[in-house]
Amino acid sequence: MITTQDAVTAAERCTPEYRRNPHAVYALLREAAPVCPMKPPHGNETYLITRYEDARAALSDPRLSKDMYGAMDAYRSIFGDSSVALDDNMLNSDPPKHTRLRKLVNSAFTPRRVEALRPQIQDIVESLLDECPTREPFDLLPAFAFPLPIIVICELLGVPAQERSRMQHLSTTVAQTGFSEESKRAQQKAEEDLHAYFTDLIAAKHSHPGDDLLSALTAVQDNDGGLTENELVSTAFLLMFAGHKTTAYLIGNAVHHLLSHPAQLRAVQENPELVGPAVEELVRYDGSVETSTFRYATEDVEYGGMRIPKGALVQVALSSANRDPQKFDAPDELDVMRPGNAQNAHLGFGHGSHYCLGAPLARLEMQLALTGLFGRFPRMTLADPAGEAKWMEVPFPAFRGLAELPVVLDPA
Ligand code: HEM
Repeated sequence: MITTQDAVTAAERCTPEYRRNPHAVYALLREAAPVCPMKPPHGNETYLITRYEDARAALSDPRLSKDMYGAMDAYRSIFGDSSVALDDNMLNSDPPKHTRLRKLVNSAFTPRRVEALRPQIQDIVESLLDECPTREPFDLLPAFAFPLPIIVICELLGVPAQERSRMQHLSTTVAQTGFSEESKRAQQKAEEDLHAYFTDLIAAKHSHPGDDLLSALTAVQDNDGGLTENELVSTAFLLMFAGHKTTAYLIGNAVHHLLSHPAQLRAVQENPELVGPAVEELVRYDGSVETSTFRYATEDVEYGGMRIPKGALVQVALSSANRDPQKFDAPDELDVMRPGNAQNAHLGFGHGSHYCLGAPLARLEMQLALTGLFGRFPRMTLADPAGEAKWMEVPFPAFRGLAELPVVLDPA
């Protein structure tokens, strides 16, 4: 039995016990410290919100700002100055700027454009599976889960095919979560390279527009004009950054949990129309965005009886809210037929004005990835079904994903 203090330390330091089962830690925090002051390794006072109703309210509270870089030295001290040029985008802004950027990007990133990607995504899934070994253990993450979303984003943005492996490398380097000087330097270099790359690509789209999203973004207009050059570069970066690791980890988590719950997997295989609800349930059950929902208080606010002082960082623990028994019956059970799935009550894609812009694309990718994988290899297994899953080691729990996912396709 762990104490509340153990739970706080586990979440602050991302201890091995926490990585193995953050949900046990969150269960305790929801009861004993639902708005929990913490001092994570980056050293800035942070309040972690773990209950569903508080989480939902905080995600749409205008007193909790997303304009971190403009306003907060504390944030810069965590992530450094390097990315400021790439962060001139909607995720890091409040209204009215957020409203303008989101509207402009939405007018080009339409449901029709997402749906039009369906055949390409199916082809990418099939060609990645063509390259996977059968009847021997291999790691599904580098072979399938990580390349799929970045190739899709390159397809969406109109990145030429020969540049895609470089994009994958740069995106992966930027997404590393490390506080060491070496990892910060590597991130900074990758960000500079991406900035230069997207600047050149956008110039090329201006002169020779194609039918890709980036070309469309260069043309979008409202009454005040279009996106500035820096907003275009930052938005391209955001789509890549927000859409790669999140989807890759979710594919891994989803495949791992389905293979560990054979009856649930069988239900989806026998009823293909269940794949949509299954994806919602998998996002709820063990989504990939855990606490990467940084906000800061622009004034003193109160949540769950706790005063959060002006200037403090706030993180909403989506993984905890999504297992709150006040909201979900039997929250620790994976149930692809859970009635609430249809209403998308989970907070795995956020809530409010910053609700994930890429959610329709993420859902489509997830559905096609799972259908393609389990359709082609219906008897696929974990390489070591009795073994313990290896979750990635991170300095703080912003994202949740596996370090590796050894599987056997088509076992003899
Ligand atoms: C925002 C989750 C995939 C683009 C968000 C937020 C969450 C999230 C939780 C809100 C963050 C906050 O409120 O602080 C996810 C998950 C994904 C995924 C779990 C995959 C399974 C994607 C994809 C794209 C994308 C594929 C685009 C290619 C965005 C953008 C925002 C966002 C642009 C910012 C929206 C705004 O600030 O208005 N995502 N995301 N995401 N996501 Fe996603």
